[in-house]
Amino acid sequence: MNISSFLGDYALIDRIDTLVILEFVLQKDRAWILAHGDYELNAKQQQKFEQLVKKRVNGKPLAYIIGTKEFYGHDFYVTKDVLVPRPESEAFLDLLDDYKPLPSQSLIDVGTGSGALGISAKIAYPFIQVTATDISKHALKVAQKNAAHLNVDVKFVRSDLFSYIDFKYDYIFANLPYVPTNFDVSAEVLSEPSIAVFSGQDGLDCIKMFIPQATQHCNKLGYVFIESLKIQHKKVKDLANNYNLKLVNTNNLVQVYQKTN
Ligand SMILES: C[S@@+](CC[C@H](N)C(=O)[O-])C[C@H]1O[C@@H](n2cnc3c(N)ncnc32)[C@H](O)[C@@H]1O
Repeated sequence: MNISSFLGDYALIDRIDTLVILEFVLQKDRAWILAHGDYELNAKQQQKFEQLVKKRVNGKPLAYIIGTKEFYGHDFYVTKDVLVPRPESEAFLDLLDDYKPLPSQSLIDVGTGSGALGISAKIAYPFIQVTATDISKHALKVAQKNAAHLNVDVKFVRSDLFSYIDFKYDYIFANLPYVPTNFDVSAEVLSEPSIAVFSGQDGLDCIKMFIPQATQHCNKLGYVFIESLKIQHKKVKDLANNYNLKLVNTNNLVQVYQKTN
């Protein structure tokens, strides 16, 4: 079969997913694929294509199939050990931009997964000190590989929240697990690590433990960025208020709190 017939008739998955899988199998870019509709896949390519489509049909995230995901303009390696970085988490970086970090400042990304947030912050502000942590050693390996590949100097620490962190920071990023355990989620989300996704009955177990620790590790007038579901925002705000963290900004799922004293 040629490229046009795959793109035209292949109704098993989205056209865009078909295109991405074709790019991966043929190791050609989008423009080449679209310009070579009459290119005939050889038997090996066709078999590979069909195997990958089958995985996609069974709910495997596209990013796990091709091994990468673009986030904030950078390509991150991803494996089944990390959450696939989501476009809505780019709000962390857009919000950080509002505060214009200074060279003497520092940032910690708690629960870094693939490293997407901390590494993107370091690329945007190379002069700030960035630390990234995760409870999962497998996730940290992926994040370290991404830092090396994107050529940034980020310090990685394996830690349950702040348990192995002694310092205070000007910016704290937290995209921790926040999905309630009884939520109906897609097959794609179910194939991501459950420690990266679920967090107790109301989804807030991890964030409830994080907030009191975050306030201790935040410099005065520093900022704590937390992603959660919109329906959780009020609860998170009430909790944060109890720990001298005042809501100062929101962008979609991400709330920013300032440490008041
Ligand atoms: C929702 S994922 C987010 C990953 C990444 N920050 C992103 O935005 O793509 C949450 C991450 O938090 C980590 N995590 C879960 N519980 C943790 C804890 N107690 N301490 C540190 N990291 C934790 C998970 O291993 C996972 O990598």
